[in-house]
Amino acid sequence: LKVTMTDVKGETRTFDNVDEGLSLMEVAKAHGVEGIFGDCGGGCSCATCHVYVAAEWMKKVGQPDDIELDMLDMAAEPQANSRLSCQIKMSAELDGIEVTVAPSA
Ligand code: FES
Repeated sequence: LKVTMTDVKGETRTFDNVDEGLSLMEVAKAHGVEGIFGDCGGGCSCATCHVYVAAEWMKKVGQPDDIELDMLDMAAEPQANSRLSCQIKMSAELDGIEVTVAPSA
């Protein structure tokens, strides 16, 4: 599966052969994407994996649950397309997804 990420410095990279089931946070960490820390290890409790999902992908990604929304409230510069990347798991449906790393908290 393919994922395109733009880091906090504005550098865009595309990663191929991403395994199904990996979270976008894990993908970012594996490739050292700047601005993604994932301090809580994917537990939806730190918001250091905050990303903005490209508009055309919002529908497929779906809405955050209440716990994630609470965390996003505490994140720096939340937007309507904010998600925690540890809560987005790669699947065939998300093949080609594009996200931008949000400014860190
Ligand atoms: Fe902590 Fe995503 S890694 S909320």
